[in-house]
Amino acid sequence: MALVDLFIGGTETTAAALAWAVAFLLHRPELQERLRAELWRELGPTGTPQVGDTGRLPLLHATVTETLRLRPPAPLALPHCARRHTSVGGIPVPAGSILIPNLLAAQQDPDTWHHPEAFLPERFLVPGAPWRALVPFGCGARSCLGEGLARAELFVFLGRILQEFRLEPPAPGVLPCLEVSAGTVLRCPPFRVRMVPCQPPA
Ligand code: HEM
Repeated sequence: MALVDLFIGGTETTAAALAWAVAFLLHRPELQERLRAELWRELGPTGTPQVGDTGRLPLLHATVTETLRLRPPAPLALPHCARRHTSVGGIPVPAGSILIPNLLAAQQDPDTWHHPEAFLPERFLVPGAPWRALVPFGCGARSCLGEGLARAELFVFLGRILQEFRLEPPAPGVLPCLEVSAGTVLRCPPFRVRMVPCQPPA
């Protein structure tokens, strides 16, 4: 069962994040063009993004990061039980309390993020961006075991999709709904997308 949990938890969360990234990019075609330009400039006509390319593909890295900030696929992480009396942010937590971290709310805290509800990967391209306030994979000893794999999959798959296809709505102006609804995994409402093959400039 542990393996089943690992497989389902790992694939659903990563697939949900990829769907959110596509949905957000349908709303920002000009950002798509800048991402494609970055990919083609850095990798040429035949290169493929690799896990170690986050430094040379900063906009792609920022886009994955912003997707995980605005729509963390596991918005309430997993419940934790305090084994001894402690405190969180000055609030006492008696032993035996069940704590449910609200990652979604933490990553939209207006004290930390400007325009917290907007999809702005560019926020991570400026010095002083609050990277340390990101917790899409939880934090501490029981944070997500699959973080490295999930980040690698999202970076490589989104990069490959954008290298090969322009993402367009099925009809002019028919854009995905970006509303969140309650659930263990934060899924994007179903939407349709046209994937139009494209080539780097000769
Ligand atoms: C975008 C994709 C993913 C996100 C956002 C995500 C997020 C999370 C979060 C928030 C937790 C709870 C951490 C906590 O309570 O502090 C967690 C736990 C866990 N995740 Fe992920 N996860 C993702 C993908 C994966 C993948 C691909 C795997 C495995 C291949 C995986 C395996 C696990 C396991 C085993 C735990 C439990 C860790 C423990 O209790 O010690 N996750 N994940």
